[in-house]
Amino acid sequence: MGKWHDEIDEAASILSRSKKVAVMSGAGVSAESGIPTFRDAGGLWDRMDPLEAGTTGGLFAQLEQNAEKLKPLLIELLDAFEASDPNPGHLALAELEKMGILKTVITQNFDNLHREAGNTNVIEVHGNVFRARCLSCDQTEIIGRKPFIKEIRKKLESITILDFSAITSLASICKKCSSVMRPDVVMFGEQVQEMPEAFLAAQNCDAMLVLGTSGVVYPAAYLPVEAKNAGASIIVINPKENAFGSVTDVYIPMKTGEALPAVLKH
Ligand code: OAD
Ligand code: ZN
Repeated sequence: MGKWHDEIDEAASILSRSKKVAVMSGAGVSAESGIPTFRDAGGLWDRMDPLEAGTTGGLFAQLEQNAEKLKPLLIELLDAFEASDPNPGHLALAELEKMGILKTVITQNFDNLHREAGNTNVIEVHGNVFRARCLSCDQTEIIGRKPFIKEIRKKLESITILDFSAITSLASICKKCSSVMRPDVVMFGEQVQEMPEAFLAAQNCDAMLVLGTSGVVYPAAYLPVEAKNAGASIIVINPKENAFGSVTDVYIPMKTGEALPAVLKH
C-alpha cells in the first residue's frame, strides 16, 4: 500500500460514481514537464515582479529599462517549453476522458499540454501562447509549439538588444488584414477567456479535480467554489495546501504526475 492510499481510494470512488467530471488546473500540473510554476521557488513571479512583467504596460517598460535581462529569460523559457511534453498527469486526464468520465478541462495554463495529451474539450481561461491573435481584427492562428519556438528562436538570435522595436519584429503578421499579431495569452488586467463556458462546466459537474494551482488568481479561483456550491465534490491534488481548503472534500498532498495515475489505477 502506497502513500495517501485512503485519499487516492476515496478520490477514485468519487470519480467512478461521477458522470460529468471537470478539471481545474494550474501551473503545477506542468511542473513535471519541466515548465516552472509562477509562485514556487525559482518560478517566474519569484524572480520577477508580476506588476513589471505580468502586464503589457509593465513588460514594455521592462523592455526599455531591462532589455538585456529579458533576452536570456525569454530563451530560458523557450528552452523549457521546447523540451516539455505531456507528463503522466496530463496523460491520465486524457485517459479519464476516454473512459467517458472527464468532460471538461478548465486550465489556467497556456502551454497547450492538455490538448497535446489528448483532451478534446479544453477551456484555456488564460489563453494559449502557441496561438497568435491579431491586434486589429481579432483573427487567431494556431502556430504549433515546435514551429513557433523554432521561428521565435531564429528571430531572437538575430537581435542583440531586446528593446521595443525588436520585440515587434518577433510578432507574426495577420494573414487576413496584415496587422501585427500577439501571443494569445492573458496578462494581468486583461479579460480572461471563455469564462461563461468555464462557469457552466463548474456548475454542471458532479466532481471537480483541482490540480496544481495555488488558487489566488481571480476570476479563475471562483470556479471550484462555484462547483462546490452547485453540489460537486472537490478533489484537490497539490503537494502544498492551496486556497481551496474550505471547499475541499478530498485532499491528496502529492504531485499530479504521481497521484493521477494512481487514482486511475484504483
Ligand atoms: P502558481 O505558481 O501560483 O501555483 C502552482 C501550484 O502548483 C502551487 O500550489 C504548487 O504547490 C503546485 N505544484 C507544484 N508542483 C506541483 C506538482 N508536481 N503537482 C501538483 N502541484 C504542484 O500557479 P497557478 O496557480 O497556475 O496567470 O497560477 C495562476 C495564474 O497566475 C497563472 O495562470 C498565471 C499566473 O500569474 C496568467 O498567466 C494570467
Ligand atoms: Zn487581422
